[in-house]
Amino acid sequence: MEQDDPGEALSELRERRLGALELLQAAAGSGLAAYIAWALLLQPGFRRVPLRLQVPYVGASERQVEHVLSLLRGRPGKTVDLGSGDGRIVLAAHKCGLRPAVGYELNPWLVGLARLHAWRAGCAGSVCYLREDLWKVSLRDCHNVSVFLAPSVLPLLEDKLQAELPAGARVVSGRFPLPTWQPVAVMGEGLDRVWAYDVHSGGPNGQASPEPSSASVPGAPRSQVG
Ligand SMILES: C[S@@+](CC[C@H](N)C(=O)[O-])C[C@H]1O[C@@H](n2cnc3c(N)ncnc32)[C@H](O)[C@@H]1O
Repeated sequence: MEQDDPGEALSELRERRLGALELLQAAAGSGLAAYIAWALLLQPGFRRVPLRLQVPYVGASERQVEHVLSLLRGRPGKTVDLGSGDGRIVLAAHKCGLRPAVGYELNPWLVGLARLHAWRAGCAGSVCYLREDLWKVSLRDCHNVSVFLAPSVLPLLEDKLQAELPAGARVVSGRFPLPTWQPVAVMGEGLDRVWAYDVHSGGPNGQASPEPSSASVPGAPRSQVG
């Protein structure tokens, strides 16, 4: 700033201050927008869930959905997606014959969106999306369970699955494996990876298979043992 004229220097200073003020306003504005989005769209679902159990919404990739279906296709009994998001896995499961297919989701906006997708697909009366806390629903009648949750909650989920799932149930976990169970099959790579686990002994002490084997996944393409 080499102006000899003090008036000019002053106006340049004012302009710079204005620029900084505008930047500050923009930052505050976007912070506020993010807060409003969080408070309106995400928080309603999580109000009663402890912070350590809160898992944000990320939709499964197309490949991930395909792998989930490959690992469950043809299996009888109730299929559930725990934390069903916009319902894509439940809808795809229903379409490939896994019925009944049920999604449990805390976020009411996502439950609404899932129902809208089902309605647009002509499956409104057939698939079921319930606004429920996955930690509170009983899994005793579930034979096929899909999860795509954060690694931090998976140890607790293992306990719940083990305590509640009936013998013969299968669990498929997207993107992150269950921490201590042994998979019977693994499909896909990287972010699309899905692990399958079978519950062999029923009742409250149901166990995941101790030995991995791809043989229990009939016709699963590109299946690879963990
Ligand atoms: C990573 S997203 C997966 C969404 C969907 N399963 C998919 O694969 O596209 C996890 C979902 O779980 C939901 N969620 C997290 N905690 C939950 C809880 N306690 N009960 C029900 N849903 C929950 C989140 O709102 C989010 O939609």
